Amino acid sequence: MINRRNFIKTLSALGISLPVMGGNVARSNPAAKKNNPVIICSRDENWGRKVLKPGWDILSSKGSLLDAVEKSANITELDPEDTSVGYGGLPNERGVVQLDASIMYGPTHNCGSVAALEGIKTPCSVARLVMERTDHIHIVGKGAQEFAVAHGFKVENLLTEKSRRIWLRWKENLSDEDDWFPPKDGNYDTDRTTGTINVLAVDGNGDMAGITTTSGLAWKIPGRIGDSPIIGAGLYLDNEVGAVGATGRGEELLRSCGSFYGVEQMRAGKSPQEACEAVCQRIIDINGGKDKIDFSDKMVAMNNDGEVGCAAIRGSKGREPELAYWSKKGFKVLKGTYLIES
Ligand code: GLY
Repeated sequence: MINRRNFIKTLSALGISLPVMGGNVARSNPAAKKNNPVIICSRDENWGRKVLKPGWDILSSKGSLLDAVEKSANITELDPEDTSVGYGGLPNERGVVQLDASIMYGPTHNCGSVAALEGIKTPCSVARLVMERTDHIHIVGKGAQEFAVAHGFKVENLLTEKSRRIWLRWKENLSDEDDWFPPKDGNYDTDRTTGTINVLAVDGNGDMAGITTTSGLAWKIPGRIGDSPIIGAGLYLDNEVGAVGATGRGEELLRSCGSFYGVEQMRAGKSPQEACEAVCQRIIDINGGKDKIDFSDKMVAMNNDGEVGCAAIRGSKGREPELAYWSKKGFKVLKGTYLIES
């Protein structure tokens, strides 16, 4: 019987190499416009420039597509100022930071992800190793941390002073009936954030890759996994069509398979912009209409010709959902659309 490991060994003994470790059969992309590399992220001008610069430097010098998306996503993961991704992310209800991330690579249609990962600052790099160095797709919790350590990652405290203080304020405000007193300064702001970042890229060959990485819902029940590490929910791509990434309330993206639905909308002929709007509309419909919605999700999309789109369930004039992108025409920000005025 020939299993995948033996198959790879046999190929290598014959001097044949697969396009990427962990990959299956290469999917060529004959229909895409070539020589039009673009990298996008689900952020505004400030974050967009910072995040996309290393990825664009790699992509525009014909470097590795996977390196481009990883190095860009690592910028937010390592930045303690961002309280929604990686190091400095807001913790779960016990004050422990648990990270989710996924990666997908178009030419092999392969993917990897980690979830509820503690103590590792760059979960998307661990997700990439799951894709490239194992026969699995999804590794969670303690197993994901052990896997990261085996690959030389350091276990560190991810709770910064800033996120610890925000968490403590939430905890102290939680109930009048427990023994934690509310803060003396009367600041009761305990917003529950679900920040995340998507990075999607198409290279000069028309091949695509993407990453979604997050610290997930603030104050979540320990072990809760959102959409970000679930292929088809927080991230999906098809080299022959395009890529979609999601941010916002993960549970809604999970039960709508939001990113998969978006890619299939593009396959059916919609533009990236129309595909993002279709996902938002689908989530609204699943929930029984606009008046039932008290959350938001935001979709970003790019087809393999490098056309981009962005839409959110909620927004307002002057506060439209945004994405940033870098192409041969330089750095730009796209203001997207929203379906509910808020
Ligand atoms: N979309 C991020 C989360 O819900 O975890």
